[in-house]
Amino acid sequence: MRKIAFVNEKGGSGKTTLTINVGAWLAMQGKKVLILDMDPQGHVGKSLGVDVHKVQKSVFDLLIYPDVRMEEAMLPTANKNLFIVPANKRLTDFVINVAHQPDRHIRLRNKVDTLEGFDYLLVDSPPSLGLLTVNILLAAQEVVIPVSLTYLALDGCAEIMDTVKVVRENFGHLDLRISLVVPTFFRDTILVQSILNKLTHHFGGGMSKTVIKFDMKLDQAQSFGKTIFEFDPASLGAKMMESVASEVMALG
Ligand SMILES: Nc1ncnc2c1ncn2[C@@H]1O[C@H](COP(=O)(O)OP(=O)(O)O)[C@@H](O)[C@H]1O
Ligand SMILES: [Mg+2]
Repeated sequence: MRKIAFVNEKGGSGKTTLTINVGAWLAMQGKKVLILDMDPQGHVGKSLGVDVHKVQKSVFDLLIYPDVRMEEAMLPTANKNLFIVPANKRLTDFVINVAHQPDRHIRLRNKVDTLEGFDYLLVDSPPSLGLLTVNILLAAQEVVIPVSLTYLALDGCAEIMDTVKVVRENFGHLDLRISLVVPTFFRDTILVQSILNKLTHHFGGGMSKTVIKFDMKLDQAQSFGKTIFEFDPASLGAKMMESVASEVMALG
């Protein structure tokens, strides 16, 4: 099973949009996919039409209670190969709840290690680099970084690289690697081109060939609780998501 985390401490960089649509496309290829939401905003569930405040169990229960199994927190979706573990606001209590627990960094990994029968685990991340993100990075093997092409985004990228390095070295998690950097919210301006050039210079072959442009359909799909492939399979958004998802698949 490939374990891929979509990480960027900046909100609005396209993490959730990529996570759900890459997951959906992989599921459409017959892969069995689990998307785990580690963001207290609960956007994975919300984007797929789930009322995340009413779910019986969420990722919070998974992280807090040792006897709660992965299967108990999973929900099916419109695609028979795609499952999610939703999150909601309760997840903000996680850090306080485990503050003194020696295993607080590997709560997620311990549960992920019990997962069977899936081809892909995709993890959506919160807009911060705290204990939740350390849990994500210790449970994952690959990191995909969506970068919205703004000037300050370059700072954010450096931060994530630092965090990945710290997790690799301090926790001895040498399997972890940044597998893809995906430029998002591309506009054809001189500033955006120069940011893209800087990123390409820095990440070289680690950059995705797909550049994600603005397509309102991607936002609309989420507001209807649908993936872009259900909402408008002929849209530019669907084509871009398919393109980046096939790059992710090819890396495996
Ligand atoms: N390529 C895109 N074109 C238009 N809107 C987008 C695109 N990607 C994401 N969005 C919208 O922008 C907002 C932020 O994206 P999101 O994926 O939620 O970012 P993050 O998870 O990093 O905070 C959402 O409302 C989403 O629907
Ligand atoms: Mg998000």
